[in-house]
Amino acid sequence: MHIALSFNLKGDAVGLMEEPAEPPSEPPDLPSDDLFAEWDDIHTIKAVEAALASRHQVTLVEADLDAFEIYRKLRPDLVFNIAEGLHGASREAQIPAILDMLGIPYTGSDPLTLGLCLDKRRTKEILAQHGVATPGFTVVNSLAEIPARLRYPLIVKPTLEGSSKGVTDKALVRNRHELVCQLEWVLNTYHQSALIEEFLPGREFTVALIGNGNDLTVLPIVEINFDTLPAGVQPIYSYEAKWLWDQEEDPLQIFSCPAALEPLLRLQIEELCKAAFRALDCRDWCRIDVRLDAKGRPQVIELNPLPGILPRPEQNSCFPKAARAVGLSYDEMILAVVDAACARLALPAGVSNERCRML
Ligand SMILES: Nc1ncnc2c1ncn2[C@@H]1O[C@H](COP(=O)(O)OP(=O)(O)O)[C@@H](O)[C@H]1O
Ligand SMILES: [Mg+2]
Repeated sequence: MHIALSFNLKGDAVGLMEEPAEPPSEPPDLPSDDLFAEWDDIHTIKAVEAALASRHQVTLVEADLDAFEIYRKLRPDLVFNIAEGLHGASREAQIPAILDMLGIPYTGSDPLTLGLCLDKRRTKEILAQHGVATPGFTVVNSLAEIPARLRYPLIVKPTLEGSSKGVTDKALVRNRHELVCQLEWVLNTYHQSALIEEFLPGREFTVALIGNGNDLTVLPIVEINFDTLPAGVQPIYSYEAKWLWDQEEDPLQIFSCPAALEPLLRLQIEELCKAAFRALDCRDWCRIDVRLDAKGRPQVIELNPLPGILPRPEQNSCFPKAARAVGLSYDEMILAVVDAACARLALPAGVSNERCRML
């Protein structure tokens, strides 16, 4: 099969500014510091290319302003989509939307789901409508809209970001003063509404899923161990924890996989994640963040239908970690996503979806 790999390269600020941008290295005091946190680095793109090339013919197509014309001429059999898009609240939907327009099939969720999942408010509204547990929340556009009565602690985050952008160590607020300071920072830095969410104090997990319909497979659950963070910091998987304190040369031992879980709780988390996947109409793969509330009940924090997939184990990327825990190499994980897409699209992938079924 001829597969095109659709990506945005970190450090290649095409369409945004003339000079190449640096990936974030400083704490996020400035709005531009985390601008490209969600884009992929060259090692990830090369690793995905190599995985696809082990079974298919591969062409790399950058998700920039030329992408439409390139796809129009190239017409691959399938696009493996990891592009996070250029700008705007629906940026992750951009490449899937032009592929839909051109009638070219692709891996992963459609534009509507990708746009919705980047909007934490809309995601939670849909989860709530489907009876999928998610923490209570309100959304504000200005300090004047802060409700008079709130129960602390709370989490404050930008409504339309991912990759922990805007979720710093100060996102967990314990009183009105902290809330106002953090809201002011989020509103002024990200120029978008802010989500004020009930803080779930329990254990946190992230859950990788591959497949569709009755072939939806939950990979071993990853637990995030906050006691491995530097002393005195908040028990959240913050921007600092994800991008600054956890370095490849000195990785934090922050994840356990498979998480040590009672069978009943494990089942509850798996069922919750499958319900969330279905409520948002996700396709082929997704990683879902879950945390336990004060009573130990799992709730969905957010869905990542374009999950991070850093290739090297030292890079502590959760989706590949979960795949490794069930015996899937990086290449096999990527090919399992291709197989899931091919099964959904009834495309002849060369092999059946055995890889997923065996899990
Ligand atoms: N309601 C919440 N209760 C407890 N912790 C939360 C809550 N919301 C976010 N967090 C913490 O902040 C982290 C990042 O928030 P998340 O909504 O997953 O944003 P991102 O899209 O940036 O990953 C989570 O992994 C979790 O540790
Ligand atoms: Mg998250």
